[in-house]
Amino acid sequence: MKRVAILISGGGSNMLALVRDMAGDHPARPVLVASNDPAAGGLAKAAALGVPTTALDHRAYPDREAFEADLARQIDAARPDIICLAGFMRILTPGFIRRYEGRMLNIHPSLLPKYPGLHTHARALAAGDSEAGCTVHEVTADLDAGPILGQARLPVLPGDTEDSLAARILTMEHQLYPAVLRRFAAGDRTPVLLP
Ligand code: GRF
Repeated sequence: MKRVAILISGGGSNMLALVRDMAGDHPARPVLVASNDPAAGGLAKAAALGVPTTALDHRAYPDREAFEADLARQIDAARPDIICLAGFMRILTPGFIRRYEGRMLNIHPSLLPKYPGLHTHARALAAGDSEAGCTVHEVTADLDAGPILGQARLPVLPGDTEDSLAARILTMEHQLYPAVLRRFAAGDRTPVLLP
């Protein structure tokens, strides 16, 4: 049974989808939900599902490395085989990423390699793209650029706003990420492509 740690910064809707899916014949189970924000709404949701949680306020640290050293200690104490970034909004240093490279995943709300970084939906709309979506990838030192493990795409509709597109894509994220984690935890890196 693979052990999964999930890192969040906010509401944790992707974390919830992952935790709820890790049941029955799923080859993995959640062992920790950690956040860089003690006020993250996802922490209470994880605790309500019986998943151990921890929160480290990144603003309480003198620098990024000190925060990441504490975070790594908390993560390593849970002995995870896989780390899932899920709405985690801190950029991680190459040193931290190297500790977990090959077993750390992230979900990004665009069809990578298009639109790495922020404001992905606004950029897709501004470009007049006919479709948009989300990507699960392995985390490497290059931001939002690791090997792709899954993508979900959907049409951009006339009249779509950043909010309407974000909402439709978030629903697809909740299908894509659990499907990718099931496959990845079983040792299969074949990309999941939805629909
Ligand atoms: C969402 O914008 C999602 O697209 C991205 O992280 C943000 C928050 O996700 N992956 P969550 O609800 O905290 O999982």
